Amino acid sequence: MDGIAKPVIAIVDDDRRVRESLESLIESAGFTARVFSLAEDFLQGGLMAGTSCLITDVRMPGMGGLDLQRRVRLERPELPVIFITGHHEDEVERCALAQGAAFFIYKPFDAGELLGAIMAANSERAKLAGKSKKPVLLKIAPDLSFRQIDSVLQVIAEFGLNGIVATNTTLARPDSFANCPEAGGLSGRPLQRRATQIIRYISGATAGKLPIIGVGGIHDAESAGEKMDAGATLVQVYTGMIYGGPFFAHELAVALAERQRR
Ligand SMILES: Cc1cc2nc3c(=O)[nH]c(=O)nc-3n(C[C@H](O)[C@H](O)[C@H](O)COP(=O)(O)O)c2cc1C
Repeated sequence: MDGIAKPVIAIVDDDRRVRESLESLIESAGFTARVFSLAEDFLQGGLMAGTSCLITDVRMPGMGGLDLQRRVRLERPELPVIFITGHHEDEVERCALAQGAAFFIYKPFDAGELLGAIMAANSERAKLAGKSKKPVLLKIAPDLSFRQIDSVLQVIAEFGLNGIVATNTTLARPDSFANCPEAGGLSGRPLQRRATQIIRYISGATAGKLPIIGVGGIHDAESAGEKMDAGATLVQVYTGMIYGGPFFAHELAVALAERQRR
């Protein structure tokens, strides 16, 4: 999964908190995010040709969102542009939509609203390009409660996402890591049990209908098989590969196929 080229979504907003939260949301929805604090930086960054969708603020120092949209239209008229703004200005909204904006969203917005806009822009792009839609999977943290996972599953169903990746690294410090002072996400074996628990929960909650990519602490065929037994459709490895080396994925695939035949 990590090696597949993901659609790039560019974010232009002068508010650092908005940039950071959008970047994290967009990355967790399976896209690659590229953030810019100024419209000029996006235009001069040489990224326009490879961008699948542009999300921009309206009011920014230097060039504003409407001028940015005009510049983008000259080079990439088919590029979906989504506006986000904290100011209610009907005239600006009318103008952006008349210039072909895909969506005009007011801050604060919730994750579902933005995800819906991105999915719709992505479908529109596929239709214009005459290609099939890119599958979009949402990756979740293992630190969510089952109740929170239920709301994620609702969002996935509502927006027709194609699957879920469970799980990312954990912020918890389980077992012998209880007193570990370092900040950041923990991967590998300490995550194995919780990730499997979450996969089993999702599989049960969706009656096995939602494709699940199981990840977290897979280090051999048994731990990969544990994820499959819990309901995973595919498995992904990260830390196992770091410790196991470049042939780990091949050896694991062979051993897992053998295990599943038994
Ligand atoms: C150094 C590092 C960087 C990671 N970067 C990403 C990332 O950019 N996107 C992502 O979805 N997951 C990322 N992950 C999470 C892994 O893909 C994986 O979900 C997690 O590490 C659990 O699997 P593991 O126990 O096999 O490592 C990263 C993990 C590590 C350790």
